[in-house]
Amino acid sequence: MPTAGWWEALWPDPVGVLTAVGMKPNMTVMDLCSGDGWFTLQIAKLAKHVVAIDIDANLLNVARHRLAESGVTNCDFVAGNAYELTRLWPRPVDFVFLANAFHGVPDRERLARSVHDALAPSGLFAVVNWHQRPREETTILGEPRGPKTELRMSPDQTVQTVEAGGLKLVRVVEVPPYHYGAVFERLDR
Ligand SMILES: C[S@@+](CC[C@H](N)C(=O)[O-])C[C@H]1O[C@@H](n2cnc3c(N)ncnc32)[C@H](O)[C@@H]1O
Repeated sequence: MPTAGWWEALWPDPVGVLTAVGMKPNMTVMDLCSGDGWFTLQIAKLAKHVVAIDIDANLLNVARHRLAESGVTNCDFVAGNAYELTRLWPRPVDFVFLANAFHGVPDRERLARSVHDALAPSGLFAVVNWHQRPREETTILGEPRGPKTELRMSPDQTVQTVEAGGLKLVRVVEVPPYHYGAVFERLDR
């Protein structure tokens, strides 16, 4: 998880990001790989309910404190692996949000299948990724930031992997200055 300071500088408008990738008020939401809860708090302010899932229980605790300090109570926190979502949270959700994490997951197609199964019919999956640009170019507060260049995924790579997991692309949007969001839907026939 990045240290505070530059993360806030990169994401001054988390609600704008959530809106751009299709999150709407009163949805039930899963913040997958939620980290220290920077987006979770803003999701909770808009959503009917949010479940924050992360493999790192310490980061979930940081998130829990962040939301408690803001008086937000419509959130559950579950420690576990993104590959096992229906076991961790058996209630289907309207929207799964995954930011800054897809590049680091070893089996991304398996994660996409897991998300597919966690979604309600017509539910949406939004993946927010760093653009596939050299790390030296993605500077924030004067320093190169983000994942190593070789880990970064293009929109096409993301779309191909998530569609292989059973979801259908809805759109790709720009999330300036250095990210894009790919939005997918669960289509059941
Ligand atoms: C860079 S942080 C992003 C946090 C948050 N989404 C954000 O954008 O502020 C990536 C997070 O993914 C979590 N993570 C990595 N692999 C995971 C897995 N297989 N299952 C659940 N969480 C995972 C890490 O513990 C870490 O908190």
